[in-house]
Amino acid sequence: MSTQSVFGAQWGDEGKGKIIDLLAREADVVVRYQGGANAGHTVVVGTEKYVLHLLPSGILHEGKINMIGNGVAVDPVVLLQEIDELAARGHRIGPDRLRLSAAAHAILEVHKRIDHASERWRGDGRIGTTGRGIGPAYADKAFRTGLRMADLIDSKRLRQRLTAFLAEKNALLERVHGAEPFDLEEVHAVCSRVGARLAPFVTDTGRELRRLWREGKGILFEGAQGVMLDIDHGTYPFVTSSSTGVGGIAPGAGFPPNAIERAYGVAKAYCTRVGEGPFPSELNGREADRIREAGNEYGATTGRPRRCGWLDAVALRYALELNGATGLVITNLDVLTGFEEILVCTGYRVDGRTLQDYPAERADLGDLKPVYERHRGWHEDITATRSFEELPEAARDYVEWVESLLGFPIVMVSVGPERDQVIPRPDRVPALT
Ligand code: GDP
Ligand code: IMO
Ligand code: MG
Repeated sequence: MSTQSVFGAQWGDEGKGKIIDLLAREADVVVRYQGGANAGHTVVVGTEKYVLHLLPSGILHEGKINMIGNGVAVDPVVLLQEIDELAARGHRIGPDRLRLSAAAHAILEVHKRIDHASERWRGDGRIGTTGRGIGPAYADKAFRTGLRMADLIDSKRLRQRLTAFLAEKNALLERVHGAEPFDLEEVHAVCSRVGARLAPFVTDTGRELRRLWREGKGILFEGAQGVMLDIDHGTYPFVTSSSTGVGGIAPGAGFPPNAIERAYGVAKAYCTRVGEGPFPSELNGREADRIREAGNEYGATTGRPRRCGWLDAVALRYALELNGATGLVITNLDVLTGFEEILVCTGYRVDGRTLQDYPAERADLGDLKPVYERHRGWHEDITATRSFEELPEAARDYVEWVESLLGFPIVMVSVGPERDQVIPRPDRVPALT
């Protein structure tokens, strides 16, 4: 079996959850390696819709192991809620199916309060975070003050670590943010309770993962967010706080980087973004509304309306190159049905020049103006199409045109939210060497 990875190649919400759920059929282990409950990954099975925040998107398949790696920032309260909600819908999740890294950092209520307070300080420069405490938790990890799952399940260590942690955080909350401090005993009680419930799941996930891989099991890595939100390579500072691409797998899962055989980027046939920050191909007005309504573009985590725009081939090529993608999955092609013309951004105008390559070195990406090329649209309903040849000619041409613009094979095209609404292109999948 192979080791595959799926990452978001735009600004998040590309449909990763759906694709992971699909590929999970052939995998034995599905692994989250970064991000936290800022993620909202939607999986639609028949009439049932699931939005997963921390649980890997392979969780709806019986007989698979789902891992939350050390690189994930885990809100233990949210994780338990997700486990309980799935149990109420008939999906029992025991330690045989879910493994949680002892080294994963915990997101506590404190982090969320600081996340909100920091956004207020930023004023007009706010990032538009999900408010899930992601930035403050990863900051604590780097600052070496964070609490990990191993601390939560060891009562003596928990009190020690928490006492030191809260002393500093309460000073920050009260003196800098003018916010309410936290009571040590109350936080301790919450941590002990969630720690006790999560203890059976907690393990050295890296060691288990490497053992399963040596045994020949199929491993599937699930990226959260997207490359353009990557802490290093995205539109900093309007990014999240982790390495969202393939490069995040080795540190975030404890897995050898040279053992990842396939890397699939996922991108919509257009573009969306939630939160603040540059978005060169953003649309405003009627066309944006049309895409938003047709694609139901409202955040799976926060419910915020997503900003919508045309496909940005410049940013997408950058994302795929950066991650050594072996292929691209295009989702939401059905959403473009009915447009007379479909535009794709193939360059940026800036300082009187046209750029064909993504200018990651620029401090300000807000002044990039898109250069568009146009393609004719199609009107036929494509949601029931299951083979590439059956697509309307204009839709086929569009996919092939995008493929040639990017220089990466499009290995799958998704034409609806449900599990089976997908057109495979097996001839585009590169053989393993
Ligand atoms: P993720 O964060 O990358 O997993 O994506 P989200 O779940 O946040 O957002 C993707 C949205 O698009 C969800 O509502 C999906 O159900 C939906 N979706 C996924 N693939 C398709 C598709 O091919 N067509 C349509 N119309 N919707 C899709
Ligand atoms: P999935 O995995 C879309 C965005 C936020 C904000 C920025 C920083 O579902 O694709 P954070 O809370 O991470 O500090 O917010 O990143 N963001 C996402 N946008 N999809 C996501 O996840 C996102 N996770 C974070 O809106 O702009
Ligand atoms: Mg999402």
